[in-house]
Amino acid sequence: MDFTLTEEQQMIRQAAREFAQNELLSGVIERDEKQQFPSEQIKKLGELGFMGIMVKPPHGGAGMDTMSYVLAMEEIAKIDASAAVCMSVNNSLVCWGLEAFGNEEQKKKYLVPLAKGEIIGAFLLSEPEAGSDATSQHTLALDKGDHYLVNGTKNWITNGSSASVYLVMAQTHPEKKSHGINTLIVEKSWPGVTVGPKENKMGIRGSDTHSIMFQDVKVPKGNRIGEDGFGFKFAMMTLDGGRIGIAAQALGIAQGAYERALQYSKERKAFGKEISDLQAIQFKLADMATRIEAARLLVWKAAWEKDHEMDHTQSAAIAKLYASETAMWVTTEAVQIHGGYGYVKEYHVERMMRDAKITQIYEGTSEIQRLVISRSVLK
Ligand code: CAA
Repeated sequence: MDFTLTEEQQMIRQAAREFAQNELLSGVIERDEKQQFPSEQIKKLGELGFMGIMVKPPHGGAGMDTMSYVLAMEEIAKIDASAAVCMSVNNSLVCWGLEAFGNEEQKKKYLVPLAKGEIIGAFLLSEPEAGSDATSQHTLALDKGDHYLVNGTKNWITNGSSASVYLVMAQTHPEKKSHGINTLIVEKSWPGVTVGPKENKMGIRGSDTHSIMFQDVKVPKGNRIGEDGFGFKFAMMTLDGGRIGIAAQALGIAQGAYERALQYSKERKAFGKEISDLQAIQFKLADMATRIEAARLLVWKAAWEKDHEMDHTQSAAIAKLYASETAMWVTTEAVQIHGGYGYVKEYHVERMMRDAKITQIYEGTSEIQRLVISRSVLK
């Protein structure tokens, strides 16, 4: 494995870094407080090719690899984890799945505008009673000949109101369990689709999370992705890549908090010297740097395996587990190093600590990652 970055990868990292500094930083505290979705910034990210980084140019994307994607994700998440999750869901869960398994018609109609960032997508798997236990889908997609009739409720949907296209997992043949599930492309504007109120969240408050309700929604058969019953495998394979994106988001949050703590430790004086001269702080900084470096290598390894078309289920779960736990730990330590200042909003690290928590929950909790990893090592 050679992790020397290509010129193109260095360029995308630099572009993402500059974008985050110039476009995301100034309003990030206010958006968090007001729970404001970064619409304008996401539009600009789309114009720069960041909403379809891995999609091939004929399908509207930037045609880059997963390494480029994780480099960009880290930089965006370092400043604004809410913008990062919007970008991650669109890139890994929606665009990647459509490009890998959609037909040409679906790609033309949906993937091209999604990859260009002209529209946003969302991934609708979780339900009130099917979060970790994702095979237990209650949403029904009954086969009515030329269309499916969809009824049910989806929960915790990132991009719930900003998206105009949904990839919806629903059960068509309950007796077949996971083999009876289909993934359907549903437009938000279709009759019977209702967007619930915005969730008032602890972190990533700039992202829009909603429940989505479906009542007798008619979805043409042509909007099913893949063969009948392919929906669960589609979701799992897509989530393997999604977990790499969330791992990169977690890495960015950790790196952002670490950089702030490092800087603060060189400025803050106590006991007659900068606190960076105190071994208690030095050891914290050393542990933060070590864990972040380990997380980055795991994220890059998973991205490398995906780019080399290798099985990356295990490496994605390992990267997500380790990077998200690193993000939680590093952000907590960053608040601690800041002392009282860390507890107030203008120093950013309290937001990062709140944002870090979700990376241990969505796209599979830490417990689900452990389950995936243990199944893989025991098989
Ligand atoms: N790739 C391909 N196929 C896979 C797979 C993978 N990674 N994982 C499972 N499958 C297949 C299995 O091989 C099996 O197929 P066969 O029956 O043909 O053998 C089928 O799928 C069912 O798999 P399991 O028997 O392993 O299913 P399970 O009920 O034991 O659960 C699970 C598996 C790993 C726990 C899964 O349910 C899971 O990942 N749960 C967490 C769901 C999740 O991550 N939700 C996140 C919501 S999306 C989100 O958060 C997005 C957002 O908005 C930010």
